[in-house]
Amino acid sequence: MAELSAWQKELAAQLNALPSQRRRQLRSFAAGTGSSLEPQAPGATGLLDLASNDYLGLSQHPAVTAAASAELQRSGLGAGASRLVSGTRTAHTALESALATWLDRDQALLFPSGFQANLAAVSALADRHTLVLADRLIHHSLLAGVRSAGARLQRFRHNDLADLERRLAATRDHSPGRRLLVLSESLFSMEGTSPDVAGLTALCERFGAALVLDEAHALGVLGPGGRGLGMGHSTIALISGTLGKAFGSGGAFLAGDATTMAWMLQSSAAFRYTTALAPPLAAGALAALRWIQTEDHQGAAVGERLLQRAARWRQALVSAGWPRPAGVGPILPLLIGSDTRALALQQQLEHAGLLSVAIRPPTVPEGTARLRLVLRRDLPRGTLERLIKALGAP
Ligand SMILES: Cc1ncc(COP(=O)(O)O)c(C=O)c1O
Repeated sequence: MAELSAWQKELAAQLNALPSQRRRQLRSFAAGTGSSLEPQAPGATGLLDLASNDYLGLSQHPAVTAAASAELQRSGLGAGASRLVSGTRTAHTALESALATWLDRDQALLFPSGFQANLAAVSALADRHTLVLADRLIHHSLLAGVRSAGARLQRFRHNDLADLERRLAATRDHSPGRRLLVLSESLFSMEGTSPDVAGLTALCERFGAALVLDEAHALGVLGPGGRGLGMGHSTIALISGTLGKAFGSGGAFLAGDATTMAWMLQSSAAFRYTTALAPPLAAGALAALRWIQTEDHQGAAVGERLLQRAARWRQALVSAGWPRPAGVGPILPLLIGSDTRALALQQQLEHAGLLSVAIRPPTVPEGTARLRLVLRRDLPRGTLERLIKALGAP
């Protein structure tokens, strides 16, 4: 093997210093039918998916895959260029217009990923003179946006509006004209918790702060007809949504008022300097949106049914002696504490045919490793009983 250069030696030393329970590993799965996954390893058997964000099981829904296949035949696989060059297809504009109407916003713009959309959202609304007030537990992509904008950052306690209010008031006292941006999520992906969105928007209005609400995990599941917790709060500057979770596709979007979105189109490097979202993903996401809307019109909002099931799961976990997972949505983090114990529980569930992933620092704060249990619509009957049995005594 070739001798390592000085910088490679530094990286190798950093790698060696990582404790084994903190090492990330890639595992490969083949999608089985419905909610099952087939680990691609010798001797491994199928697992029920209690880990992904495919909450509605739409990644394999026939209407969604058929729409993506039809677009693949029509447009090919990739768009071949940025949206502002020759990459815009009718699949993009149709989806953008449907998303804007669904969420009652003036306009939506697609991005290749939620990470990029969040980066773009913050970069569009903040510059180095801006103070950004972010919930302590927001997604890394929003923090990357703050860094890229060169803005000043303060973090308020998780979902604590009194803390946010104190900080907003203090800033307005010192700098009445300063641009303020508040960042939060409507369903925190590792916590399962949600903020009081009405309270959040009221505070932002009172102090003249722009609000970006990341609805990555909420759309399709929370709010009226799955339209998120920002629905009906027209003063939210930007809604960020990803299509890779409940929509079962990939890519993401930002939605907002005409002025903010016009500014985004003119100014966003993250929108301009990237190849457009693959058209089959856009077509699949539109079919997923139509499916969610149809279910809603038939009075059977899928999100609500998922929440009822989540309530039963939370209750059963508590009855079995486990701490109640926070929140009400389909993300049920079982707080464990130590990395080693969380990993051991992950293994224990796998032996019982269930896949749930131990989430460890630095993704979550030190000492709060957890098993992230995720409910999806198409889990077979009896999954809860299997889970409780597999978890055993706390
Ligand atoms: C809260 C939140 N925002 C944004 C993202 C990024 O979305 P995407 O997977 O589309 O890049 C994620 C996904 O990990 C997320 O959990």
